[in-house]
Parts: sequence; C-alpha cells; structure tokens
Amino acid sequence: MQTLFQPIVTTLLDELFRDAERTDAPLMAQLHAMPADERGALMADYKRLYGAAKDAYLPISRAAGVLLYTLARARDARLIVEFGTSFGVSTIFLAAALRDAGGGRLITSELEPSKAARAKANLERAGLADLVELRVGDALDTLADVRGPIDLVYLDGAKALYRPILDRLEPGLADRAVIVADNIDMVEQVESYTSHVRDPAQGYVSTRVNDLEISLRIR
Ligand SMILES: C[S@@+](CC[C@H](N)C(=O)[O-])C[C@H]1O[C@@H](n2cnc3c(N)ncnc32)[C@H](O)[C@@H]1O
Repeated sequence: MQTLFQPIVTTLLDELFRDAERTDAPLMAQLHAMPADERGALMADYKRLYGAAKDAYLPISRAAGVLLYTLARARDARLIVEFGTSFGVSTIFLAAALRDAGGGRLITSELEPSKAARAKANLERAGLADLVELRVGDALDTLADVRGPIDLVYLDGAKALYRPILDRLEPGLADRAVIVADNIDMVEQVESYTSHVRDPAQGYVSTRVNDLEISLRIR
C-alpha cells in the first residue's frame, strides 16, 4: 500500500487537519477584525506576520496535498524543495511521495524555530524524517545554495518572496521540473512571480488552477 494511505500517515494527517481547524480560526478572525491599514502593514512585513502566526498551521488543503504527491510521483522526483514548512502537513505529502519512489531528499525551510520543531516531531511520527532536511531561518538565506537537479518545488512561505526564492533555485532546476505555488489569489503579492513564470521567454509553461500556480520548467 502507498505510504500516503498507511494508517500511521492517515491518522496523523487527520489529527493535524482537525487541530488546524481549531487553532487557525481565531487567528484568521483576529486578522479580519483589524482595521484595513493595520492589516495591510502587517501583511507587508512577513517577519512580523509569521511571528504573529507562529501557532497557526495555515496548511495546504488535503486535495492540494494529494496533488503534490501525484505530481512528485509522476515526475519521479528525487530532490524536492519546499518554501514554508509550518507544522509539516505539505511536507508529509511530499516526503510520502519520495518514500514510494524508493527514496530521495526533501529540503524544506521554516522561519519560526518553534514551528520547525513541531514539523520535525510530526515527520518522525509519520516515519518520514529520514527523507527531510529541515532548514530553519529565512529561506532567502537557507535556500540560497541548493544544488540541483531539483525536480519539484513547492512555494508556500511569504507570498512576496516567491520570486526571489525562485531566482535562487532557478539555476538548479532540472529540465521539466514542476513548480507549485500556493495562494495565487493574493494577486498583488505574487505578481512579480506570476508575470515571470507566465512569460514564455523565461522558459516555463504555467497555469493557474484554483489558488495554485502550476509551472513546468522547460530549458
Ligand atoms: C502557509 S504556511 C505553510 C504551510 C505548510 N506548507 C503546510 O501545508 O502545512 C507558511 C509558512 O512559511 C513560513 N515562512 C514565511 N516566510 C518565510 C521565510 N522567509 N523563510 C522561511 N519560512 C517562511 C511561515 O513561518 C509559515 O510557517
């Protein structure tokens, strides 16, 4: 049976999604209740924003998690890079794909040390920690030196950083690497990213599917 469907993984994911529903709602309510200018200022300062959200999961949806697993398996990905680990929900889907492919490496990055510690514990519970290298700190620094070939990238950290993070990873992207970026509905914050991957001259084929931008790197 695929790792994704093994009880050790399904039980943990069920628990994490349930806990996320409970913990994230108050934070979202607080954010929406803020005066617009205050909220705008917080959203523009990613260190302050994610510091305030350090107890929130902000997880990928279950459907998008299965999509990540599917894309990684279809691409036979062996090196995956993730921007924004949080408590490790998306990381579990990606690491499960590596396990079922026979191995590989997932480099994931998280700004908040307390979140990284929770992610590490969750990956250990899922029996997937041996596949994951968790880099703690600002991904602008921690993902600056990733050597390719990178088969799949998942972008889910600070939205305004998608483009600078892609710039750092681009030299290491394999031909036909797949890049998935979440929260593309935050149009202004991701504009420099989407305009880059949607420009055929930059070497991508790219499309938006719901809140995800899915891009294929073609050299
Ligand atoms: C939307 S959450 C990620 C959710 C996760 N992918 C999941 O599905 O469970 C975004 C995470 O990115 C982290 N983050 C934001 N900016 C970052 C940065 N510059 N470097 C590393 N991590 C960052 C935040 O602390 C937060 O935990």
